[in-house]
Amino acid sequence: EALRMALFDDAYPANPHPALAELRQAGPAHRVTSPAGIPFWLVTRWDEARLVLTDPSLSKQQPMDGLPPQLRSALTTQMLLRDPPDHTRLRRLVSAGFTPRRTEALRPRIEQLTDRLIDAFAADAEVDVIDRLAVPLPFEVICELLGIPPAERGPFRAWSDTIIVGGADLVEALSQSVAYFRDLLTRKRARPADDLLSALAVIVDDGDRLTDDELVGMALLLVVAGHETTANLIGNTVHLLSRHPSQRSRMRDDPDLVPAVVEEVLRMASPSATSTYRVTTRPVTLGDTTIPAGEQVLVSLLAANRDPRRFTDPGTFDPARPDSGHLAFGHGIHFCLGAPLARMEAQIAVRRLFARHPDLEVTTAPQELRWRTGLLMHGLRSLPIRLRPSDP
Ligand code: HEM
Repeated sequence: EALRMALFDDAYPANPHPALAELRQAGPAHRVTSPAGIPFWLVTRWDEARLVLTDPSLSKQQPMDGLPPQLRSALTTQMLLRDPPDHTRLRRLVSAGFTPRRTEALRPRIEQLTDRLIDAFAADAEVDVIDRLAVPLPFEVICELLGIPPAERGPFRAWSDTIIVGGADLVEALSQSVAYFRDLLTRKRARPADDLLSALAVIVDDGDRLTDDELVGMALLLVVAGHETTANLIGNTVHLLSRHPSQRSRMRDDPDLVPAVVEEVLRMASPSATSTYRVTTRPVTLGDTTIPAGEQVLVSLLAANRDPRRFTDPGTFDPARPDSGHLAFGHGIHFCLGAPLARMEAQIAVRRLFARHPDLEVTTAPQELRWRTGLLMHGLRSLPIRLRPSDP
């Protein structure tokens, strides 16, 4: 019981691994009750995590009774919240527009945005890399992808921050975003441009197409799914590299190592600390534990990705490890649609930041760092760095 409560302790976000290791050791899945009194199961081992992510007897569809109707339509049409066959259809239509080619076409733009953000603080002695790079880069990239004009990004940024943080204004921010996307979609239909929203508005697959509600839901999903997660990945990478000088100098000598560094950060410091919720539609047995029907289940990606049954020395930061196969982007039919984009953004940000500022140093002691709270995300709220070596 004390172990389960450790998940909600104030000290947990800064160092979740001891509590997760003990839970993983104790069993593959644990029934937990949040401080708000909401019960759910947490899956902690790699094998069982993969099973839960792929087992069709766990459903992603949740009742949304409390929501205003205009919001309900924008949420229940999101692929991440649907099971087959609806999921299959939505994912096929969205994938037809959100292609690897479209992602790759964003590369020069992402490089330019990254350089512009780094230029803006080049003269400063010390900056918060979360505030100045890790958060704004993914936000700008999603705006580019969807075709949100630069002049309209300000209010949109405020709503999306509220959606991510949650709280009292959540429903209001969601409603504003839905209204905004409806209006943007009307404009894209009238004057299509070279962006994802315009492309998806006209895609027809086998006589099938996305409805306006589905297009709005998709836009909302991309913003929510791709913003904070990618910010966490960039921040966690700068943080881990600053704590591992030998890996860092190896990467400086050979920039081709950057992709492997980012993969190892995804494993060790999984930015999305858990999956999203699933509900059991019948009893599901994981090892010696049976989860009854009708229960909420979360997979701890952070715990699974450090399972010693799967990874040798899981706590060691080793970009060259042969046994990758992390679950940081999920697994199975809901595997992250934005994974190629997230990887590209993190690789560019890290490569450019360390190339421009090879001597950067994190100025805050590990125990003083501020982390995002809650079980779902694993990332820093701020990460102050000094750009040049201090005077001897
Ligand atoms: C799904 C992680 C970035 C779009 C997921 C899932 C995970 C994940 C774990 C599966 C959740 C589950 O099965 O419960 C991440 C991480 C990211 C990232 C760690 C950054 C490092 C992005 C970006 C985008 C995106 C940049 C889009 C612009 C999506 C979508 C889904 C998804 C659309 C739902 C796919 C489906 O239901 O078929 N992501 N994500 N993600 N992600 Fe990402």
